[in-house]
Amino acid sequence: MARILVTGANGQLGNEMRVIAQRNLQHEFLFTDVSELDICNCIEVQEFMSSHRPDFIVNCAAYTAVTKAESDFEKSLAINRDAVKNLALAAVECGAKVIHVSTDYVFAGDAHLPYTEEQRVNPQTVYGKTKYEGEVALSTTMDDYVILRTSWLYSSFGNNFVKTMIRLGKEKDHLTVVFDQIGDPTYAADLAEAIMTVINAERFVPGTYHFSNEGVCSWYDFAKAIHRLSGITGCNVEPLESKDYPDKTPRPFYSVLNKSRFKRTYGMKIPYWYDSLEKCIDLLKEKDL
Ligand SMILES: NC(=O)c1ccc[n+]([C@@H]2O[C@H](COP(=O)([O-])OP(=O)(O)OC[C@H]3O[C@@H](n4cnc5c(N)ncnc54)[C@H](OP(=O)(O)O)[C@@H]3O)[C@@H](O)[C@H]2O)c1
Repeated sequence: MARILVTGANGQLGNEMRVIAQRNLQHEFLFTDVSELDICNCIEVQEFMSSHRPDFIVNCAAYTAVTKAESDFEKSLAINRDAVKNLALAAVECGAKVIHVSTDYVFAGDAHLPYTEEQRVNPQTVYGKTKYEGEVALSTTMDDYVILRTSWLYSSFGNNFVKTMIRLGKEKDHLTVVFDQIGDPTYAADLAEAIMTVINAERFVPGTYHFSNEGVCSWYDFAKAIHRLSGITGCNVEPLESKDYPDKTPRPFYSVLNKSRFKRTYGMKIPYWYDSLEKCIDLLKEKDL
């Protein structure tokens, strides 16, 4: 039995951790979001850790608004870097292991082969830079950490590309979606499974790992699959070039992550993106969302 603190528990991944906790009843979970534990508040974090003494801290909290971050550097840095340092310092004090989530945005997005963990980072956005600085803050403060870099996260919880495409598909008869940005969608339920695989493993092997669903697609292919699986037929989805997309925040053209290290180390079989998307959409239909 382990005591597991989940921060940012009201977000997409945090909610999937709440779901998976129901299948891991041998552990004790403490779910917090900013109103219960503001990870930017160093004193609050230290007090919380010394009174609850978790074995694992799963950090699902982040500043994830990529475009907004461009004009909100301070807040992005506070949540994505400084708060991670707060968690790491408190974890060292109480002997907890930290599982932290990072992003494909640490890379420039100009590769042609899937990114390995050894590859040079070169973030192009405030979000990517501050998330990378969070990785550094963690890895230079403690040894017992796992960083899971992921990409294109979606869930039946929160707002994301899947839910936006379903909504727009019902509202509009025509939609354009970029086809020249390639990546791996990640169902947050599968990422939560990966986190529990790390926690339940016989041996905790620290380090940085890549995790996303298997396979690759463009945002255009992703949108087409979302509409097909949702039974949306009245909306014509057409491919768009990134240069014609109104939001000029840099987006990686190539975001595919090589997951060999995670699979080799933790032995998890990772689902194909289309199969996971189908599961999420079935759930959304059940919830009538
Ligand atoms: N979303 C993606 O496409 C994507 C892609 C790659 C990697 N990731 C990474 O995956 C992880 C999970 O992402 P997600 O999409 O689940 O994020 P999310 O839905 O934005 O959830 C983040 C949660 O953290 C909370 N939070 C913000 N500041 C906090 C603070 N100071 N103390 C405690 N909680 C705080 C947020 O509350 P508020 O909503 O009130 O701010 C929110 O509930 C993040 O590390 C993210 O960088 C995400």
